[in-house]
Amino acid sequence: MQTIHIQGDTGDSQILIGEKLANVTHYTPTQHPVIITDKRVWDLYGDRFPGDRVIIIGQGEKIKTLATVKMIYRRLVDFKADRSTFIVGIGGGIVCDITGFAASTYMRGLGFGYVATTLLSQVDASVGGKNGVNLDGYKNMVGVFNQPDFVICDLALLRTLSEREISCGMAEMIKHAAIADADLFSYLENNHQKVLALDSSAIQKLVYDSVRIKAAIVRADEKEKGERRKLNFGHTFGHALEKSYGLSHGEAVGIGMVMASELSATRGYLAETEIKRLKKLLANMNLPVRIPLNPNPVWDALQKDKKRADDHINFVMLAEIGKALVKTVALQDVKQSIGSLFKT
Ligand SMILES: NC(=O)c1ccc[n+]([C@@H]2O[C@H](COP(=O)([O-])OP(=O)(O)OC[C@H]3O[C@@H](n4cnc5c(N)ncnc54)[C@H](O)[C@@H]3O)[C@@H](O)[C@H]2O)c1
Repeated sequence: MQTIHIQGDTGDSQILIGEKLANVTHYTPTQHPVIITDKRVWDLYGDRFPGDRVIIIGQGEKIKTLATVKMIYRRLVDFKADRSTFIVGIGGGIVCDITGFAASTYMRGLGFGYVATTLLSQVDASVGGKNGVNLDGYKNMVGVFNQPDFVICDLALLRTLSEREISCGMAEMIKHAAIADADLFSYLENNHQKVLALDSSAIQKLVYDSVRIKAAIVRADEKEKGERRKLNFGHTFGHALEKSYGLSHGEAVGIGMVMASELSATRGYLAETEIKRLKKLLANMNLPVRIPLNPNPVWDALQKDKKRADDHINFVMLAEIGKALVKTVALQDVKQSIGSLFKT
C-alpha cells in the first residue's frame, strides 16, 4: 500500500492506494459509520460493508442533485445521526461528490471518508476536497471545499467495472499527464494495452502517479485561485458536452481536451503534433475524440460555467504535453471558435 497526504486549510486527508474496503473501520472513529452508496455498488459489495446503517442512492449524473442530498439528510435524521456520526461514501465520483457535500452540511459538518470504487474516482473525484451537486443540470453549481479524512483506493474493486468505465477513468489520468507529467504521458502511450487490461503493477503505478500529481496541485492551491485551475483542462467544453449530450464525464472530458488543445494551437501555444499524440492516446484508450453536434446548447452551458467571470473565462490551454497554461479568454472568442472546433 502507498499513502499520499494532503494537509489543507479545510482539513487533512490521507489517500491510501492499495488498501482494502474490508479495512475501512481501521480509519473511522467508530465501528458503525453511516454508509452512503449507490445501488450497483451495494449489490456488488454490500456484504463487505460495516454495520447496517446504509443509505442507497440512485445512479447517474441526473441524481447528483439537492433532492438526493435532502433525502440523505432525512435518512440521517431517521438514524438519529448527530455531530459524532461519521459518514463513509463507498462508490464512484457521484457517490463521493454527494457524500462529501451532505456530510459537510448536515449539522454544519460531520466527519467523512471515502472508499473510491471507480477508476475515475480513485484518480480524481475522491481526491482534493471538492464536493457538490448539479443545479438544473449545470455541473457542480452548489458545493463546498472540504477534505475527506481518508480515501481508500481498493484496486481489486476495479475488476467489476465495465470497459467503458475503465476508459472514463483513463481520461482523467491522461489529463493529469497532459497538464503536468510528460513522462507519465509517454508511459500511457507505451503501455495502453496493459493499462486497459488492469495489469496490477501498471494500475498501482498509475493511480499513485495520478493522485501524486493532483495532490501536489491541491496542496499548492486548495481553493482554486490559480494553479488548481489547470485541473480543469478539458472540463470547460467537457462539462458543456456532458450537460448537453448526456456523455459520461470521462468521455466528455476526453473530447473537451481535444477541443481545448485545438484552441491552444489556434492561439499559437501548441504544436499540431502534440494534438495528434493526445488524440491517438485517447483513441487507444477507447475514448471518443469527436462528436457531431450543435454548438448552441454547448454555448448556453459555457455561459453558466463556474470558471466564467463577467464576459471572460479562465481557460486551460496546453503549451506542450506535460505543461498547461491558464489564459483569460473573452467568451465571444470562445463562441467564435466553437463552430470550427466541432468540424469532423
Ligand atoms: N470532486 C471532484 O474533484 C471530481 C473530479 C472529477 C469528477 N468528478 C465527478 O465524478 C462523477 C463521475 O464519477 P464516476 O465516473 O466514478 O461515475 P459514477 O459514480 O456514476 O460511477 C459510474 C458507474 O459505475 C458503477 N460502479 C461504481 N463502482 C463500481 C465497481 N467497483 N464495479 C462496477 N460498477 C461500479 C456505478 O454504480 C455507476 O453506475 C461526475 O459527476 C464528475 O463531475 C468530481
